[in-house]
Amino acid sequence: MNLKDILEKDIKNVLIRINPIKYCHPIVILNKKIQLGHYQLNNLIKIANTLQLEPYKLSKIIIYNIKKKYIYKKITFSEPGFINIFICHNWLSIELEKIFISYRLGIKVTKPKNIVIDYSSPNIAKEMHIGHLRSTIIGDVIVRILHFLGHNVIRANHIGDWGTQFGMLIAYLEDIKLTSISKNSTTSLEELEKLYCEAKKKYDSDKLFAKKSREYVVKLQNGDQYCYNIWKKLVHITMLENQKIYNKLNVTLKKNDIMGESLYNKMLPDIIEDLKNKKIATEKNGATIVFLREFQNRSGEPMGVVIQKKDKGFLYSTTDIACFKYRYERLHADRIIYYTDARQHQHLMQAWTIAKKANYIPHDLLLEHHMFGMMLSKNKRPFKTRDGNNIKLSKLLDEAIERAIKLIKKKKPNLSKKKLILLAEVIGISAVKYADLSKNRNTNYVFNWDTMLSFEGNTAPYIQYAYTRILSIIKKSTFPIRKLKARIILEKESEIKLAIKILEFEEIVLLISQKGTPHIMCQYLYQLATYFSIFYESCSILFAQRIKICKSRLKLSILTAKTLKKGLNMLGIKTVKKM
Ligand code: ARG
Repeated sequence: MNLKDILEKDIKNVLIRINPIKYCHPIVILNKKIQLGHYQLNNLIKIANTLQLEPYKLSKIIIYNIKKKYIYKKITFSEPGFINIFICHNWLSIELEKIFISYRLGIKVTKPKNIVIDYSSPNIAKEMHIGHLRSTIIGDVIVRILHFLGHNVIRANHIGDWGTQFGMLIAYLEDIKLTSISKNSTTSLEELEKLYCEAKKKYDSDKLFAKKSREYVVKLQNGDQYCYNIWKKLVHITMLENQKIYNKLNVTLKKNDIMGESLYNKMLPDIIEDLKNKKIATEKNGATIVFLREFQNRSGEPMGVVIQKKDKGFLYSTTDIACFKYRYERLHADRIIYYTDARQHQHLMQAWTIAKKANYIPHDLLLEHHMFGMMLSKNKRPFKTRDGNNIKLSKLLDEAIERAIKLIKKKKPNLSKKKLILLAEVIGISAVKYADLSKNRNTNYVFNWDTMLSFEGNTAPYIQYAYTRILSIIKKSTFPIRKLKARIILEKESEIKLAIKILEFEEIVLLISQKGTPHIMCQYLYQLATYFSIFYESCSILFAQRIKICKSRLKLSILTAKTLKKGLNMLGIKTVKKM
């Protein structure tokens, strides 16, 4: 039940009646100080100004018109311009009952839309590095949430599997007589990346080799079987290794979600033709360019986006223009969300502008670039290895597990090795994920092993541990859980606070589904866990004097545990029963 929504709608209805044209949207927020009211209308003064009314007078009209509903216990005005809303406890408990018996925690399925989510998208013949972490895990949270809400989610792993580097690699493999790679080679991705670096060096220094490489690109693009087989194997080796990382990260991407750059290759010549025919693209010195008035270069002139090079090769932009077309025409996308770092913003916006100009996509297609900042080391510089290279994601995750093993060994020296490893995998990986997800994606953040593995504060171990504690309380009860028929009774302040927090879950889920900001969920879960501890300290659960209070509090505990688990699950973070 989205309480904020209900309250805002009630107030809005009053405002519409006062002035159907001039009203502005009421903003209701959860009050931090519960004594002042559970919720608060936050923009009364602004609304009053637009309606040319005194805030106090307007508050009287609003209060008079909504107070009769059974949802409200008390509504008051406070200076200079707030309306404080107390919710009826009975209403709260009825709503909690609905959530208690629902396995979707009371959240309804919405009208389904086709939503394409472009995320992770690593490049072939290179190991995934920490630069891919944010895209992969933030994108996956949004996938999980939109899927939960009932949307038809299309995971698009736009891998970098096309382009000049393949000509270079094929030529190099031939040089060092490693073309057997096309069959059942056991070459690892690590080796492949080394070969890639060597090939790149040779490409930059050896003109003949560079020429041969370019010829291979053209051959590959024209469907030559020999090149194609090697290319396929390169993709296979890379994605096999990446799949291991996805599994380790508990990310839902699978082989079928791969929709790499190569998928759009066949569309590119027609697109160039079409853009020329529509006079959107022009030829200049042999290259095909689109000049965009919407973007200016350094000298203030329309920026040129090259879509075909002099040597007839296509570019990253060309593929993304085709990709928009494909996602709209073939996948029937209603909304497309990109998870790539901020540096690719201009590129995406240019490709988007061109696709719109060419009428490949309608002007009202929802396109969102959910950008994110970088991971920094303690000295606030980009997080890199000592020799300045990107940190491999697999190494980072291994270290997370190692550190978790040390931590658990200290706390539980007698744990069997098998259990230790299993627990360490959950704790280590969750810590890394949560540390990232809990930061506003728009900003850079400092990567810090110590804080992320701490059992205090807004961290994965804290929330996971809170969950296990609640489970152990529930387990101690002698009442059969499934038959907890007694009603939820809300008497103490800490119970009411917890109840309202549980009800807030839907609002949080909906907000993230619009904004793509998982940190809101982390903040929420952290508060929920904290509110539970306060409740636990001030209210006896198992030994309350009246049995019906016992049962009611047990129900509140179960609801908290369910919400924590669901929330963590949406973040792609596992829970354990014991820690
Ligand atoms: N492969 C790219 C990279 O590693 C990201 C691709 C993002 N998606 C897109 N449609 N351009 O930076």
